[in-house]
Amino acid sequence: MKELLIVANWKSNKTEKEAAEWFEAFNVEDQKIQEKEVIICPPFTLLSFLKEYKKRNNSPFKLGAQNISAFEPGARTGEINALQVKEYSDYVIIGHSERRKMGENDELLQQKTEQAKLTGLKVIYCVSNLDQEIPQGVEIVAYEPLFAIGSGNPDTPENAEQIAEKIKEKSQVKVLYGGSVTSKNISSFTDMENIDGVLVGGASLDPVEFSRIINT
Ligand code: PGA
Repeated sequence: MKELLIVANWKSNKTEKEAAEWFEAFNVEDQKIQEKEVIICPPFTLLSFLKEYKKRNNSPFKLGAQNISAFEPGARTGEINALQVKEYSDYVIIGHSERRKMGENDELLQQKTEQAKLTGLKVIYCVSNLDQEIPQGVEIVAYEPLFAIGSGNPDTPENAEQIAEKIKEKSQVKVLYGGSVTSKNISSFTDMENIDGVLVGGASLDPVEFSRIINT
C-alpha cells in the first residue's frame, strides 16, 4: 500500500489562540497519523507555536512553510530565508497559484527551490497545468487546477490521475492533488494509482473536517 501524504495549507489564516483551539478539536489517533504523512503548513507566525505543540505532545505530524525567500540571508527586509524556515519545518510549499498571481515567475520559483535544497527542505511544488516547469530537486508536486481552488468544484479524479501520470513520466516525484478536497471526495483521488496524496486548503481550517480527512 502506498503511504499517503496529506498536506494542510492554512494560507493566511489563524492567530495563536485560534491555532490552540484548532488543536483542542483536532482528534486523530497518533497511529492514524503515523500511517500517513500529515504535514501542516501554517503561516510563518505560527511555525514556532506548532513546533512547541508538537514537541510537548510528542505528536507525529510534520511541519511545512508556505513560502521562502528566493535569496540568501542578508539585507532583504521582510524576507524569511530557507535557513530560518528549516529551524521549524521539514517542508516548504513553493509556486502556489496564489503566489504566482502576485507575480512569482518560473525564474523566481527556481531560485526558491534552489534555496530550499541548500538547506535540506523538501519542496512541495505547485503547478496548475502541465506547461509549468518543475525545477530539479523537487520531490513532491501538487497539481492544483485554478478552477478547483477554493471553489467547491474539484477536478475529476480521472483527469487528475491523467495529469499525475504525465507529471511522473517527466520527473521522479510524488504527485498530490489539490483543489476543493474534502473528507467526502478524498478517497476518489487517493484511490488513483498515480496520486500519492492531497493538498487541502479550506477544509484543513476546520479541525473536525481535517480529522475526518485523515481518518478516511
Ligand atoms: P482548497 O485550496 O482546498 O481550499 O481548494 C487548496 C489550495 O489552494 O492549496
